[in-house]
Amino acid sequence: MNQDQLKALVGQAALSYVVPGEIIGVGTGSTVNKFIDALATIKDRIPGAVSSSEASTARLKALGIPVFQANEVGELAVYVDGADEIDGQGNMIKGGGAALTREKIVAAQSRRFVCIADESKRVAVLGRFPLPVEIIPMATTRLIRQFAALGGQAAVRQKDGVPLVTDNGQHILDVSGLNLQDPRQFESDVSQWPGVVTVGVFAFQKADVCLLGGASGVTTIEY
Ligand code: 5RP
Repeated sequence: MNQDQLKALVGQAALSYVVPGEIIGVGTGSTVNKFIDALATIKDRIPGAVSSSEASTARLKALGIPVFQANEVGELAVYVDGADEIDGQGNMIKGGGAALTREKIVAAQSRRFVCIADESKRVAVLGRFPLPVEIIPMATTRLIRQFAALGGQAAVRQKDGVPLVTDNGQHILDVSGLNLQDPRQFESDVSQWPGVVTVGVFAFQKADVCLLGGASGVTTIEY
């Protein structure tokens, strides 16, 4: 199976975590797009979804799945999202699709985080994937220096030759070369830096379960 087929496999497998009658939290990315497509086949069983990005909202609506604002609803039973990396404890790096802030918000509003990923995302220690950090643009130069002091090389993410603008109107730094041996401490520390909106380490909102797609099918890992 190629990577696209693995993504479809885990997207389909995540349907078994959808609670009938309950609004579902929906993440962002190519793996989640497969989940949204699968969700459309059971859309009559749920009132709708809370979405973590404009892109997922558009896809959900196009498939006839009602989208609620996070503030309109209470706690969600389940949030389904992908990851750029996931370690053996369920800690993740997220934000490859620039949606990390809303992803963390919807994850925090949900009782259970179901991560869907192909096996290429599994790592022993987070940090091979450059860490996305959503930032306020006026803090860019100082934040690049602060990451450099930790041994990280930070670059402003570009789109069509200009800085990418997130759904929240901010920029993304991609930081490579960091030591993420203690993801929880790192997330806690960097979240305090003025100008950081959201750091793409998900240790406080880590996965409760991961559906990992590989050659032998879907492996379910509980944390
Ligand atoms: C978006 C994310 C995605 O979950 C992450 O980038 C994985 O994406 P994909 O499923 O396309 O590999 O965090 O901000």
